[in-house]
Amino acid sequence: MKGTKITDGIYRIGVNLEGDSLFEGMWPIPNGVSINSYVVRGQKNALIDLVQNIGEKPAEYQEALASLSLEPGQIDYLVINHMEPDHTGWLAEFSKKNPNIEYYITAKGASVLKAFCGIEKNVHTVKTGDILDLGAGKTLTFYEAPNVHWPETMVTYENSSKILFSCDAFGSYGAITDAVFDDQLSTEQYDFFLQEALRYYANIVAGFSSFVEKAIALLKNLDIRIIAPSHGIVWRENPQAIIDAYARFARYMNGPAEPEITVIWASMYGNTEKVVRRVIQGARSEGIPVHVFRTPEEDVGFILASAWKSAGLILGMPTYEYRMFPPMAWVLDMFARKKVMNKKVLRFGSFGWSGGAQRELEAITEKLKWDFMEPVEWQGAPSEEIMDLAAARSRELAAKIKAEYGK
Ligand code: FEO
Repeated sequence: MKGTKITDGIYRIGVNLEGDSLFEGMWPIPNGVSINSYVVRGQKNALIDLVQNIGEKPAEYQEALASLSLEPGQIDYLVINHMEPDHTGWLAEFSKKNPNIEYYITAKGASVLKAFCGIEKNVHTVKTGDILDLGAGKTLTFYEAPNVHWPETMVTYENSSKILFSCDAFGSYGAITDAVFDDQLSTEQYDFFLQEALRYYANIVAGFSSFVEKAIALLKNLDIRIIAPSHGIVWRENPQAIIDAYARFARYMNGPAEPEITVIWASMYGNTEKVVRRVIQGARSEGIPVHVFRTPEEDVGFILASAWKSAGLILGMPTYEYRMFPPMAWVLDMFARKKVMNKKVLRFGSFGWSGGAQRELEAITEKLKWDFMEPVEWQGAPSEEIMDLAAARSRELAAKIKAEYGK
């Protein structure tokens, strides 16, 4: 892949992780994900972030660098916005090709740089407001953005072009092919990247939403003409669109989320499954969007994105050995880790000898401030009365959500 000019002297170079890999070793990315790095050329050459050391990606990266007539030895400065190895995996090798390069990184990042790459020489620690002058009118200003996504993260702003190199913030899943910029996308592609931004956010950043809000507030006074994230497309026509999307995603944590319901269900022998259709009908009868997932068949990465956005959750699962059905326990454990908070929740499900799933559900989600409706539980096979009751309760939940969050 060749480097792409963003503006005079500033270029994107990037690689794609393919759709059959798992991001962070766990999240499905059927549409791939890009890892973006940027070149800023003044009298000195700076690179902003690097690339993961996986397969042929470093070679592809060097090829992209070469398309700009640059090789690693010609880079004067490496700005490390974030030390996670999707951006720095190749750094130890890269540093051998350019032993005199100088690094710009936060103080917290410097210790991680040493731990991951053994690099201590030529390391300049920076804080918010520090400036690196590249000459020829190009200057970089650094802004600490802790926990977006790791504690050491910062973002970098080029003052002449007003480009924000935002690292993980404002990123999305989805491989980059021909179109690099928002204004090159069809309506479908544009919607796709916004949807993939939500899934990326829910998987990677959601647990740090309060820090995302702080970072957005910090950047409010900056005149940002272009957002160049470390994953996904470059937003040059309407950077505010992705800032607004991220502000909305962050707000979902404390509400209001969207007037939608995510139904997640699991069944062992079919007695919980028999009620699912009626529950969905009940939820849809109020006319709000209802998204349905089955676990363990569908991956938690997709479920998480839908649940993050929805004001309401309906969880269908049987009791298993006096506790939750384990595939659902895995989903809920992830919800707790990612802070899927402030939901209105209905649970339904069967049990054999005794219940117990609801008790464990309420315990595992104790800190999430969920508003539980009375569950619908039954022993053995569901009766017609149980089916009617489950449909009525899910309709009641939908009506509440529509009344409280509907526009
Ligand atoms: Fe794209 Fe947190 O690294």
